[in-house]
Amino acid sequence: MAGRIPQEFIDDLLSRVDVVDIIDARVPLRKAGRDFQARCPFHEEKSPSFTVSQNKQFYHCFGCGAHGTAISFLMEYEHLDFIEALKELAKHAGIELPQQNQQSYTPNISPDLSEIMQQATHFYTQQLQQHPKKADAVSYLKRRGLSGEIASEFSIGFAPPGWDNLIQELGTTKTRLEQLVTTGMAVEKEEQNKCYDRFRNRIMFPIRNRRGKVIGFGGRVLDDEDKPKYLNSPESPLFHKGNELYGLYEVRQATRTIDKLLIVEGYMDVVALAQHDIRYAVAALGTAITPEHITLLFKTTSDLIFCLDGDRAGRAAAWKALDIALPAINDGRQARFMFLPDGEDPDTLIRKEGKELFEKRIQQADSLSNVLLDTLSKEVDLGSIDGKAQLAEIAKPKLAKISNPIYLNLIIEELALRTRIDSNALKQQLGLSGNTPKHNKQSFARNRNNKPSLVRKSITFLLNQPSLAQQADELSLLSQAQQPGINLLVQLLEFLQQHPNINCGTILQHWQDKPEGQHLVKLAKVQLETPDEGWEKEFIDAISQLKKQAKDQQLHNLLIKEKSTGLDADDKRLLMKLLKRN
Ligand code: GTP
Ligand code: MN
Repeated sequence: MAGRIPQEFIDDLLSRVDVVDIIDARVPLRKAGRDFQARCPFHEEKSPSFTVSQNKQFYHCFGCGAHGTAISFLMEYEHLDFIEALKELAKHAGIELPQQNQQSYTPNISPDLSEIMQQATHFYTQQLQQHPKKADAVSYLKRRGLSGEIASEFSIGFAPPGWDNLIQELGTTKTRLEQLVTTGMAVEKEEQNKCYDRFRNRIMFPIRNRRGKVIGFGGRVLDDEDKPKYLNSPESPLFHKGNELYGLYEVRQATRTIDKLLIVEGYMDVVALAQHDIRYAVAALGTAITPEHITLLFKTTSDLIFCLDGDRAGRAAAWKALDIALPAINDGRQARFMFLPDGEDPDTLIRKEGKELFEKRIQQADSLSNVLLDTLSKEVDLGSIDGKAQLAEIAKPKLAKISNPIYLNLIIEELALRTRIDSNALKQQLGLSGNTPKHNKQSFARNRNNKPSLVRKSITFLLNQPSLAQQADELSLLSQAQQPGINLLVQLLEFLQQHPNINCGTILQHWQDKPEGQHLVKLAKVQLETPDEGWEKEFIDAISQLKKQAKDQQLHNLLIKEKSTGLDADDKRLLMKLLKRN
């Protein structure tokens, strides 16, 4: 029992310790695939069946069924009571147990970290207006054609020269200094515990998350001779590069309906385009586009345009982006590619050409299918029979990524036309004699015949990767799907959306005294067969299938009601909506 210790404290504590460290210090663990193993400390055994998952922050034994979190491990292994186990963990994490009668606890370093990032943003924008060297920065921005309005819209700032401007301003206590180090704003020297500012004499671009909180920075040198040209915040509890897009928050602020998004390479491109009233550009943060980016982009709009260099590197980047976008394409969604003239980037081009011509280029962007087919047909000599056979071979892995059967069929027809291969023969060569790829058929069938597994599957993915909860919306609709366990799934989703940084162990801790807790433990033990990269897609698929079932159920209920008691105005509106969607 949690006694009087606030749950928030326990959540926070569990997010700061690693169950693998805690157990490994007492029972040496060995890495086995994704997890760690040892001979079970709770029963006699010859071969190891005690498994610890770092990802899930959870251990269990296939032999004796022992399971739990870092807290329960200490309780069992060291025969501690709950409070003693918490004390031990708190000591390990270097934090203090709150007073037992304390009513609330402000959890999770995150709010403090956000706060200090906000203060850093404020500091840098202030320096742009006040610092004795501000003229260097101001004239740099002017030279690049930026107005004061745009600079302030993007909260662009100036990190003055010097080793400790930010630290002097914000690192006023030990805790605050630690926060600067945790967020990567300050760097700790290895020998002594001295710190210095990461960003010095740079133009600062704050990177905001979806809610507008600053989670990191990009800093550009003022003088092109200095290196590195751009310095980005390192990964931190707040900042995960592969999940964030520079400028997306600003696009949302500036535009009510976002009918397209242009994906460019650099901070300056986003800002320069905004300066010319193109308010729909975002940039990946010095990384290649990830599947998380694609999900986020398609959640925002259904028309993506990747803006790339026209050179070889740009073509290669397009090919990569295409590969990642393919699984997400369907009839409603499109991805296009715009290749820039040699030596230009969106920033230089928009300044030369202006908005109208630039937007014309966007209109002429190549469709994804065009780029796909062009690239494929360039790779082989279509004049020869060998070449035609080869084409099918290289097309196969790409086409296998297309999950939408209608779209797949269109592409194959087009490929057949271009290569002058009969489309049926081509399908056969591709191993797609029907028009659905094999793996889709299978997973479809499995879900149809075994409906309850959709809920179990979704919960299992959530336990493995709780952040997936952010991908689910319309929870009240979802709760109407007539499936065993749907309430637990919806509760879990609500909980995770409110507590975004929680891990599986902490989830189990929350549910342990509730009847559904046992189900969660069972599902936490399931080893996923899907490789990590596929979790998100399968999760989203499962949720959307459940939503579809919920809609069908609503429709069914309304039709019955219509026959018995008739429909009121709200019912009719809902009915119309449902009929339209189906
Ligand atoms: P400007 O020279 O200011 O116009 O920048 P740019 O956006 O045209 O620069 P470039 O095309 O060289 O780089 C595009 C993006 O790659 C930048 O916005 C950064 O995110 C990233 N980048 C460029 N140079 C560096 C670097 O030296 N280090 C790191 N980490 N990232 C960089
Ligand atoms: Mn540039």
